[in-house]
Amino acid sequence: MNTFIAYKTKNGASKEYAGWLAAKYKTEPVEFEHAAEKDIKTAKKIFIISGTYGGVMPLTDFTRTHWNLIKSKDVTLIAVGMAPEKNWWSKLSFFMLPGAIKQNVKYYKLPGLMPDKEVTEKNVKESNLDRVK
Ligand SMILES: Cc1cc2nc3c(=O)[nH]c(=O)nc-3n(C[C@H](O)[C@H](O)[C@H](O)COP(=O)(O)O)c2cc1C
Repeated sequence: MNTFIAYKTKNGASKEYAGWLAAKYKTEPVEFEHAAEKDIKTAKKIFIISGTYGGVMPLTDFTRTHWNLIKSKDVTLIAVGMAPEKNWWSKLSFFMLPGAIKQNVKYYKLPGLMPDKEVTEKNVKESNLDRVK
């Protein structure tokens, strides 16, 4: 497996982004709990995706836990949330990542949704991934 895609979701947006990326890279996304070490080891390119909840991102723990295995690879973190990427709240989430990680990954904040507000569903769309490399 050349591209490894792991995600954690509560409201579904991270899973959608993971699915779109997986189709593009012809692989299957896995939830953090099901990430197999052998697949992480053999991957060259890695996407780690989760929502942000009060500034807490499950992707941080996952990345930290596996950092020794992935630090020399092409790692992209995708934080999903309601706050726009340029909002200070989003910047704070990025700032809270360990220094060794944030200096060695690509990082994006993409639009998420509120589960009880249908109007936000249209914000979660495949074209948001166009700038994700
Ligand atoms: C309790 C709670 C806290 C949240 N905090 C933030 C936040 O700090 N920043 C943000 O951008 N979005 C925040 N959101 C919006 C979520 O990030 C959004 O619902 C996103 O879609 C979550 O990812 P998921 O759909 O993969 O679970 C919050 C949502 C909830 C329910």
